[in-house]
Amino acid sequence: LPVPSVQAMVAAGRHAPVPPRYLRPDLAADVVVADDATTIPIIDFQRLLLVDPEESARLHAACQDWGFFQLINHGVPDDVMEAMKASIQSFFALPAEAKQQYRQQAGQLEGYGQLFVVSEDQKLDWADVLYLNTQPPEHRNLSFWPAGESFRQTLDTYSAAVKHVADRLLGAMYMNLGLQLSIMDMDPERGAGIQSVRMNYYPPCAEAADKVLGFSPHSDSDLLTLVLQVNQLQGLQIKRPPDGGGAWAWLPVTPLQGAFVVNVGDVLEIFTNGRYRSVEHRALVNAHTERLSIAAFHSPSIHATIGPLPELLGDQEVPKYKTLDHQSFITLFFSAKLQGKSFLERMK
Ligand code: SIN
Ligand code: FE2
Repeated sequence: LPVPSVQAMVAAGRHAPVPPRYLRPDLAADVVVADDATTIPIIDFQRLLLVDPEESARLHAACQDWGFFQLINHGVPDDVMEAMKASIQSFFALPAEAKQQYRQQAGQLEGYGQLFVVSEDQKLDWADVLYLNTQPPEHRNLSFWPAGESFRQTLDTYSAAVKHVADRLLGAMYMNLGLQLSIMDMDPERGAGIQSVRMNYYPPCAEAADKVLGFSPHSDSDLLTLVLQVNQLQGLQIKRPPDGGGAWAWLPVTPLQGAFVVNVGDVLEIFTNGRYRSVEHRALVNAHTERLSIAAFHSPSIHATIGPLPELLGDQEVPKYKTLDHQSFITLFFSAKLQGKSFLERMK
């Protein structure tokens, strides 16, 4: 369903008071980890490529215990990262009318707008997004790509570089799981066969930053997500289990300069029969500062079967999830409202 641009609403001053559709009365009761010393793991990509046993073990533990980590030394050149940041900042800085020409069409995901809006009475996120299919190139619909050589060239280069990193990371994970897959030559049915990119713009909310959400709690439906935190601000929070009997808590992620925030998606949880965890997360907004992020989602090719990997289960292990063909999996996902891990429950 089409929803108004939050950015346009804020720019026109039509957001005060904040419309009830954006207000989350229960937010104040949530437990947030306040201690800055608790951080998600940091993984060094270059050490993984050298098959350093300690780094590989840390990656394995990060996927099992956290479902999230920051990836440093990933090899995507600084100029590619900086050009991507500048391009998306320029896009959202365009006048409202200029962005409207990339507006999502009814029933489609790609374009400028918002995702997962399925009913008139659901809560809305305090954000606008530009969502594009990026890899393989034949999946692109250029009518939704902001015009001008620079944006298109930049996203083309960036998306290929990030997909390359995702494939190598998945290779390192599969090796850790004892699967006979080469780190350098990933099978598209097991690796990052398809990539889409969701560029998020979270306007400030001076009136009620603590009562709205930029991104509702959810887990990602893909294999592996790599997020670039454009202005390196806090906002992303991940859900952590009780520490010795307490309550579930939200842990803020403090982005490292130049790193990717990487997370395990539902498909990887399913592939690994629950060994790796697709963890719930959400995004808050700031009172006075806009925040932008670029999430690259990687899914196996459309020919892949989505279910626990047979070679991992062996003869003994009971599958915890159903097996579906990829198209049925995607249909099931996009018909579900974005709500915590409710989708993954349906795969059980
Ligand atoms: C997300 O991809 O779930 C949120 C990314 C972010 O804005 O940090
Ligand atoms: Fe996400």
